[in-house]
Amino acid sequence: MRIRVLGSAAGGGFPQWNCNCRNCSGLRNATLRAFPRTQSSIAVRGPDANSWALVNASPDILAQLKANPVLQPGRAPRDTAIAGIVLVDAQIDHTTGLFMLRESTRPLPVWCTDNAHADLTRGNPIFGVLAHFCGIHRRELRLDGGGFRVEGVLGIEWRGVAVASKPAPYSPNRDRPLPGDNVALVIRDEDSGRSVVYAPGLGSMADAVWREMRSADCVMVDGTFWSDEEMIGMGLSRKRARDIGHLPQSGPGGMLEWLARLPAGVRKILVHINNTNPILDEDSPERATLARLGIEVAHDGLEIEL
Ligand code: MLT
Ligand code: MN
Ligand code: ZN
Repeated sequence: MRIRVLGSAAGGGFPQWNCNCRNCSGLRNATLRAFPRTQSSIAVRGPDANSWALVNASPDILAQLKANPVLQPGRAPRDTAIAGIVLVDAQIDHTTGLFMLRESTRPLPVWCTDNAHADLTRGNPIFGVLAHFCGIHRRELRLDGGGFRVEGVLGIEWRGVAVASKPAPYSPNRDRPLPGDNVALVIRDEDSGRSVVYAPGLGSMADAVWREMRSADCVMVDGTFWSDEEMIGMGLSRKRARDIGHLPQSGPGGMLEWLARLPAGVRKILVHINNTNPILDEDSPERATLARLGIEVAHDGLEIEL
């Protein structure tokens, strides 16, 4: 299995258009050693190099496709290597890229939970709008423990696991999240048996997802915020990381403590990194801490073979 990180930033990207935090202004002014990042998405394939699943459709998808020519094999006047799309939630940063795929020559095959489907037909009716263009062929992402396949993506088995995070503000469940608002994906190579857990939104560690992480070969998990009060401390928001569904890396019960408890040999990669997070500064002490702990920070274009 091959995984390509298309976008490693959280909503807003890095730099964020209207943000002048230390990271965003430092990147803009070239006074900080850091790399720009687009919004959260990965692509996954099995043995067929021309057939990928897109996991989340980022608002930056067109730039991501341009940066990853493997996703355009050019076999026909209109072509794509994207065989299907899997959504982990209905948030803006994971779904609005669907609009950019409206020229598709067939209805877009999209796997999502019932909760995400409800948000994408009501609160933010992307599916309804797309019905006027290519349409959506929606497949149910069930949380009953059963695996599914993304048609056309050979040799890969997928499983959704409910996680505690937050649905988008246009969800009726925003203040009381329900199972299915946000999922982690367990993606398994059927040949090698190796698997990755992908969870860009993880607000707290429930047993089910922890069990999956312990038995995976690689985890790609929520790297949004370094500290719970990151946005408050910078005067950018009144909300803590945990309030918006993201477990911070530092502090008691934080992501670093959990990752340290994983079996040796599990590859640990942070994804969905917010532009305020000090780990984006390649020379920060926080980044040095991650290096010491053997935790990687995803960057756009990172390729993982499992
Ligand atoms: C999140 O992950 O919390 C959301 O994507 C934030 C946003 O809407 O940008
Ligand atoms: Mn997000
Ligand atoms: Zn910023």
